[in-house]
Amino acid sequence: MTSTDQGHPAQLTGVIALADGRRVSLRGSLPQDIDLLRAFFRALSDQARYFRFMTKCGELSESMARRFTDIDQVRHVALTAYVTTGGSETMVGEARYILSPDDPRSAEFAVAVAADWQGLGLARALLARLSGQAAVAGVHRLVGDTLASNVAMLELARAAGFTVSGNGLDGRLRRLAKELRPKAERRSLQRFAVTAQAELHCSQGG
Ligand SMILES: CC(C)(COP(=O)(O)OP(=O)(O)OC[C@H]1O[C@@H](n2cnc3c(N)ncnc32)[C@H](O)[C@@H]1OP(=O)(O)O)[C@@H](O)C(=O)NCCC(=O)NCCS
Repeated sequence: MTSTDQGHPAQLTGVIALADGRRVSLRGSLPQDIDLLRAFFRALSDQARYFRFMTKCGELSESMARRFTDIDQVRHVALTAYVTTGGSETMVGEARYILSPDDPRSAEFAVAVAADWQGLGLARALLARLSGQAAVAGVHRLVGDTLASNVAMLELARAAGFTVSGNGLDGRLRRLAKELRPKAERRSLQRFAVTAQAELHCSQGG
């Protein structure tokens, strides 16, 4: 696997052109992205935050934002999409996966895009990069739960090759799943599958 000088997978780094011609830079999340990330989630509408976290979630607490940015890019892989204007960066999208605590061949993903940047192919591009990185890292299956009312996410998932089914436990949810073609052995990464339950989601008290 090739890495950038930050030690991040090269797969997560690059520049993409959106449907309206605007260009967005991608990189693996860095600890110093914490303020960008908090500003990104603060700027989402209440509904978008609800769709993303599946619970009423106000501003990300500092500790939660730290858990989202200070990550190992192995067990928890996160991709930041950002633009630079007048020398300052703004996060416009993010996507991440976390290895399942029960099965390190499976990872749970989530994605979000800022309102002004939606409908331009950014989430599709983020998911493609994330899936590619997961396959390179030996993940067999990407899964996610989303609310049945989240039409954009359901359509995005279908467009990106995920199957959509009932979640089995909660009728309000749909399970998204995609089988990958892993390019590495997962066994050596078993140790990273520690308790990470609900880490993708908002936790009370941060
Ligand atoms: C879901 C979300 C990430 C989509 O981001 P996006 O960058 O706008 O999506 P894209 O532009 O890449 O769209 C890719 C495909 O998804 C589908 N899609 C995206 N938004 C859609 C919408 N509002 N209605 C219907 N289909 C939609 C389309 O099939 C689209 O392909 P097309 O443009 O060729 O028609 C974005 O709406 C979002 O951030 N929502 C709030 C957070 C959230 O719900 N996250 C998911 C929880 S895991």
